Amino acid sequence: MRNWTKAVCALASVAMLAGTGACGGSRGSVAGGGGAGAKDPSEVTIGISMPEQQLERWRQDGDNLKKQLESKGYKVLLQFADNKTDLQASQIQNMANQGADYVVIAAIDGTAVGPAAEAAKSNGAKVIAYDRLIMNTEACDYYSTFNITEVGRLQGQYIVKKLGLDSGRKGPFNIELMTGSPTDNNAKYYFKGSWSVLEPYFKSGALVSPSGRVPRNLDDWQSIGIQNWDRQNAQSEMENRINSYYNKGAHLDAVLAPNDAIAMGTVNAVDAAGWDYYPIITGQDAEKANVANIVAGKQTMTVYKDTRKLADSTAKLIDTLVKGGKPETNDTFNNGDKDVPSILLKPVSVDKDNVKKELVDSGYISAGDAGL
Ligand code: BGC
Repeated sequence: MRNWTKAVCALASVAMLAGTGACGGSRGSVAGGGGAGAKDPSEVTIGISMPEQQLERWRQDGDNLKKQLESKGYKVLLQFADNKTDLQASQIQNMANQGADYVVIAAIDGTAVGPAAEAAKSNGAKVIAYDRLIMNTEACDYYSTFNITEVGRLQGQYIVKKLGLDSGRKGPFNIELMTGSPTDNNAKYYFKGSWSVLEPYFKSGALVSPSGRVPRNLDDWQSIGIQNWDRQNAQSEMENRINSYYNKGAHLDAVLAPNDAIAMGTVNAVDAAGWDYYPIITGQDAEKANVANIVAGKQTMTVYKDTRKLADSTAKLIDTLVKGGKPETNDTFNNGDKDVPSILLKPVSVDKDNVKKELVDSGYISAGDAGL
């Protein structure tokens, strides 16, 4: 099915690009800079394709990156794809048709987006994967992201510490596990990080999942994936687990919720159950409503990824390429087809104790939004 979709998209892209023969030729020979031929920013068009706007972070990512690039003089085309893979593919193809010299893509589905990235690339654009890697294609020049495995590790370590497992408490404690969208490579790397910390405690019996929703091994990560990292999907999943396994008084000690949308769905499911406590609930992204929930004691922690820094480093990467330089990278990721030079930023664990210092004092969110 996926291959079929891929083939249709590829054909559609080729047809679209072929039908607009002017695009390729009109942009001159320099895409991505290069010594004497380097372009002036005003002649360079940059397409930004973001996955959705439900989560604040993607709106901020898009707006920050656009602002940064425009302040350097570039022309920017910014689009959000409403979590629809076909829409994202056609938006990227339109960017290519409009002569984008660079396309920055935060893929909804890292594999399905391949043909659109290839279409942009064959039209002369450089392709930069933003936050999420573009899989199984040569059409991915750079990758700019936060260390998502570290996000999972930070959440796992937080749970271990909070339950006292690292100081000898034996449990057994009840925990429910989820990961992100089965279509997002990040969800796999995220789970790899959290599983590296939690698995030994499952093996020793200190952690158990009454629902039995535990992957057999790392390759089985998709079995606990929440489609599109969606709040409502997570809420339904947690309501089912609570009704089936916790309605006779079993105590739910912790929920590994991979991001803030899923944490919010979990909080809603706990509220619906009418319990007089909240389990330890993890999260990621430091979304305003979630930070307020942390301050209010409903969610326990989140992992903060300063999207301003990601936008900043991506804008610098593009600017360096336009000027004909070699961007600084600090890692590489294999996407199945090639090793992609990558910029990897560091995430930070945030709970009630450091919310003010990390999020408010740094200007990421206001004290009012944090509920402080
Ligand atoms: C991002 C997270 C985000 C999630 C859902 C992941 O790929 O790294 O920051 O919460 O997608 O949009």
